[in-house]
Parts: sequence; C-alpha cells; structure tokens
Amino acid sequence: MSDEARRVVVITGAGGTLGAALSCHFAAERDTDVVLSDVSATSLEATVDGLPEERGAVETLRADVSEIAEVEAVVALAVERFGRVDVLISNAGVLSPNGRIHNLATEDWERAFRVNVLGAVNGIRAAIPVMRAQQSGSIVLTASVSGLTAWSHAAPYCATKAAVIQLAKVAAIEYARDGIRVNCVCPGTFRSGIHADLPPAAIDAIAAKHPLGLGTADDLVGAYAYLASDASRWTTGSAIVVDGGYAAP
Ligand SMILES: NC(=O)c1ccc[n+]([C@@H]2O[C@H](COP(=O)([O-])OP(=O)(O)OC[C@H]3O[C@@H](n4cnc5c(N)ncnc54)[C@H](O)[C@@H]3O)[C@@H](O)[C@H]2O)c1
Repeated sequence: MSDEARRVVVITGAGGTLGAALSCHFAAERDTDVVLSDVSATSLEATVDGLPEERGAVETLRADVSEIAEVEAVVALAVERFGRVDVLISNAGVLSPNGRIHNLATEDWERAFRVNVLGAVNGIRAAIPVMRAQQSGSIVLTASVSGLTAWSHAAPYCATKAAVIQLAKVAAIEYARDGIRVNCVCPGTFRSGIHADLPPAAIDAIAAKHPLGLGTADDLVGAYAYLASDASRWTTGSAIVVDGGYAAP
C-alpha cells in the first residue's frame, strides 16, 4: 500500500482501558499508523506492550491534554512522522470525586473542566490546522451518557461531558466546509481504570441500571471505528450513544 493511502490516527488517553482497546483496534488495521498519547508514561507503555504483533507504525508521546503545547506536540509528531492526521480521538478523561455540588472543592471542578473540556478543546485546536490544510479529517470526542442524563454526586463529570457533546456540535458546523467531521461517543458504564476508587457495591448498583449489564471497552470500539471511517462520511455533530440501554428509559 502506498503511503498516500495510509490512515493516521491520533489517540489521547491511550494508556487507559478504553484508550488501550482503541489503540489495539486501530494499530491492527492494515492501512493505519497510530500516535498514542497519555499523561501517564507507564500506562502508555502498558498499552504498547499489549498491541498486536501485526500492526502499522506506532509512535508514542507522553502529554497532558490540558496543556495546549503538549497536545500540539502530539499532533506535530504525527505530521513529522507520517505527514498527516486523518483521525483524532480525544479520549482522555477523569471522573470527579463522589460528592454533592456544595461539597466539592474548587479544585475538583477545575480538574474536571481542565481535563475533560479543555483537553477536548486542545485536541480540536491542535488538529484543525492540519486537517484544514488536508481539507479532510474526523475528530471523535469521548463524552458519556452522563452528559445526557443526570447522575447525583457527579456534577463536575456530568457538566463537563455535556460540554463535550456541545463542543462536538459547534465544531461540526464550524469545520464542515473544510471537510472535517466532528462527533462524539457517549458510552454507558464499562469497567475501567476510571472506577479504581469506587467500591464494588457502587459498580453493582450502576450495572443494575444498564438493561444489557455493564459493558467492556471492546463494546465501544465499533462506534469509534465507524466514526473514524468513510462509512460515516455524512455523519457530523452526532452524539452516538453506546450504553447497553442505560439512557433508554
Ligand atoms: N469507564 C466508563 O464507564 C466510562 C463511561 C463513559 C465515558 N467514559 C470516558 O471514557 C474515556 C476513557 O476512560 P476509561 O474509562 O478508559 O478510564 P481510564 O482511567 O482507564 O482512562 C483514562 C485515561 O486518561 C488519562 N488521562 C487522565 N488525565 C489526563 C490528562 N490530563 N492528559 C492526558 N491523559 C490523561 C489517564 O492517564 C488514563 O490513562 C474518558 O473520557 C471517560 O470519561 C468512561
């Protein structure tokens, strides 16, 4: 396959549970090269160790998505190494501490907004100049069903994920004429590192609210594969819900 026909996918939060599943999927695609990034160098290394042997080229860079210069460095690495960015998956995210609105500290709100919202904004800001020059590109943001349905004791998480959904919609209409699509995926709950601090009983209670039970990161991959592919060429500004039926009632 010629270099022109190769696809370049950049993934943030690649060291996490969903990020690792996405990294494995895209790295295994015969026509795809990937740039993987995470704030945790150790997690990133673990993801790379778990990649399939048969894969395209892989580059990694530790970066904090809340710092624009660091996200720009990730995109610059993709351009320097592979010459383009076809897909940006802005997937890094943090859960807010369990607590009602008045009990959460300013730092809890700031962390959620810096990583979940500013992180997604920075991904868009970094990728857009490259994608506009190409006049093509697909940006996929990881939101959550918590951006569509209210969860008690998780206001910063819910508010930031709602902001991510709206960000995708605005970006979709701003960049459609440049051939750039922007969508988001709204996962229901799947077991991941983000729940490390939650007691098992809390996970069981969440599971009971999903008609199909808790998901796995692999259950989400199809939605990202669709949004990253030409099969979704007429889809932009969408929030695709993949949640085992959680938001259906
Ligand atoms: N697990 C769920 O039930 C669930 C449900 C809906 C949405 N999500 C979203 O899915 C995405 C992936 O989360 P996950 O469940 O795989 O959790 P995870 O904790 O396993 O992965 C999140 C990753 O983001 C990284 N990260 C955190 N802050 C960062 C920063 N400032 N810069 C760069 N990377 C940073 C972490 O190091 C981690 O590797 C998140 O956006 C999360 O909000 C998860």
